[in-house]
Amino acid sequence: MKLQHKRLIFFSLVFAYISYSVFVYTKGTETKSGMSPEAHSGKNIFQEKNCIACHQIYGLGGYMGPDLTNVISVKGEIYTRSFIENGTAKMPDFNLQDEEINSLIAYLTFIDSTTVYPDSTIRLTWYGNMDKKK
Ligand code: HEC
Repeated sequence: MKLQHKRLIFFSLVFAYISYSVFVYTKGTETKSGMSPEAHSGKNIFQEKNCIACHQIYGLGGYMGPDLTNVISVKGEIYTRSFIENGTAKMPDFNLQDEEINSLIAYLTFIDSTTVYPDSTIRLTWYGNMDKKK
């Protein structure tokens, strides 16, 4: 192969690599979750305060407190709000502003709208797999 051809292949590959990287780090990682800006800031607060250390979402997280996936539809917004506002003997009071609490509620409402957890149509087998119930 001629040196010129090798150079052409080499620079084409370098160009492809750079274009692909630019795509992945700009457009390619955009997500369309449908989350409102308020819910998004609630998500940030949820992460900053490390709620997941004690709570689960979709069954994942810490096990000191209950799963929060469907807390809004099952227990209601007022109930949820009072826990976040005041804490309990086991859950810390984070001294959040009203606006921050509203964002957390918006986030939990969004999570609630995505699924029902645990999915009652799925059964856990003794060997750890998930099966659709018949
Ligand atoms: C140190 C552990 C801990 C952290 C951190 C924590 N919680 Fe809790 N949370 C609990 C416990 C434990 C309960 C159960 C109430 C009880 O037993 O006192 C609870 C209850 C709740 C409930 C009521 C749920 C239900 O189904 O009854 C909500 C809502 C809640 N927490 C939201 C949050 C949010 C939002 C955050 C983050 C800002 C958070 N928690 C951080 C431990 C924690």
